[in-house]
Amino acid sequence: MTEPTGNDPGDRGRIAAIVPAAGRGERLGPGVAKALRTLGGVPILVHAVRALAAARSVDLVVVAAPEESVDDVRVMLADLSTEAEIVIVAGGETRQDSVARALLALPQDVEVVLVHDAARPLVPPDVVDRVASSVVAGSDAVIPVLPIVDTVKEVDDEGIVVRTLDRSVLQAVQTPQGFRRSALQLAHARSDGEDATDDAGLVERMAIPVHVVAGHEEAFKITRPMDLVLAEAILVRRRAGGVVG
Ligand code: CTP
Ligand code: MG
Repeated sequence: MTEPTGNDPGDRGRIAAIVPAAGRGERLGPGVAKALRTLGGVPILVHAVRALAAARSVDLVVVAAPEESVDDVRVMLADLSTEAEIVIVAGGETRQDSVARALLALPQDVEVVLVHDAARPLVPPDVVDRVASSVVAGSDAVIPVLPIVDTVKEVDDEGIVVRTLDRSVLQAVQTPQGFRRSALQLAHARSDGEDATDDAGLVERMAIPVHVVAGHEEAFKITRPMDLVLAEAILVRRRAGGVVG
């Protein structure tokens, strides 16, 4: 297995992280685009890019920013002290569009692509490296997962339970999701405008095996207002413990 070093792109293709950040954050309530709202005084997007750039495996970060905020995002990310190169493009109407636009901006020498929601700003860099290592070791597609804690039921249109699903075979999926670049590009090209809620979903449709690695509770997605409360609490705990958030 080749270890990703993050510093020596000479002997292999580079590893890029794409960050879809162009969503509005409707479920969070009124306000600026979700990725631009702050957490501990710092925009969610900046936390996410920092976490990716702090991973040993990541050489390059491509952000798909809200179309009207590309210039603001450029300023926001300009002072980040990181060796990873940062590229900013305008995102699209859907998450999938945003990822597709970022894919178009990838330099030629990128062979492995991670796709990471800006809305998961507290992902531990170890999770990023775990996903990247698994792709570098030979998997075409890799996703981080966690066991489901709630019982999950299928419910019909009338609000009647159809069945209880077997929780032992279900997993909650996080990001970053990692791909061999060629597999992800092909999956996007074949998607035919059909929307998938994650990138692995597109790859699955091509019957390419998607492997799983362990996710992490702190890689949760900020979706609803209470998620901000949890994220702030995690930041306070990290800062108290001397870990820079
Ligand atoms: N995203 C994007 N472009 C879009 C829509 C979503 O880049 N047109 C990004 C979001 O910025 C987020 C990630 O995809 O980082 C996951 O999406 P989600 O959590 O659904 O974020 P939003 O779409 O912003 O939230 P909501 O669905 O509540 O509006
Ligand atoms: Mg959304």
